[in-house]
Amino acid sequence: MHRIAVIAFLMAMAGPAWAQDAHGASVRQIMLGLTAPASDALFGVSEPEAGSDADLYWETIEADAMMLAEAGRMLQQPGLAVDQGEWVAQAKALVETSLAAAAAVKGRNVDIIFEAGDKVYGTCESCHGKYLEQVQGKKTN
Ligand code: HEC
Repeated sequence: MHRIAVIAFLMAMAGPAWAQDAHGASVRQIMLGLTAPASDALFGVSEPEAGSDADLYWETIEADAMMLAEAGRMLQQPGLAVDQGEWVAQAKALVETSLAAAAAVKGRNVDIIFEAGDKVYGTCESCHGKYLEQVQGKKTN
């Protein structure tokens, strides 16, 4: 409890760290523009359609998983990281599970990719459970 109180105090002192950086995407833009579409593609993985370019399909899904890892890296940047404790840990979990998903895509086994996708989804849920309301509640716009 004490540690949480200290973190809350430091966050209040630091001001709205989630405010949009003048030169980069906000957390919300990373979510809507990168994280959500890339994860939709990964979570919706299926066998490539007959007659389609299967290699390109798998390459694209792998790229989507790699973009989720990049989103996790971005979320750790100054101006985006809400705190240096649990937020960064959550963002790192997104990186790690996404890299594991990208590795799983190489095996081209939909069931195994789904399992890896579930682990990625767990990190979305976990971070949102802790931070979504907190961040959205503190925004002025
Ligand atoms: C490190 C924390 C973190 C992780 C991990 C994370 N998010 Fe988010 N996400 C947020 C925060 C904070 C917001 C609120 C941003 C805002 O509205 O300003 C948000 C908002 C969103 C929104 C908009 C929700 C709404 O109704 O306004 C979507 C969609 C979203 N995230 C998708 C995802 C998906 C999909 C994943 C996992 C692949 C994910 N996020 C992982 C922190 C995270």
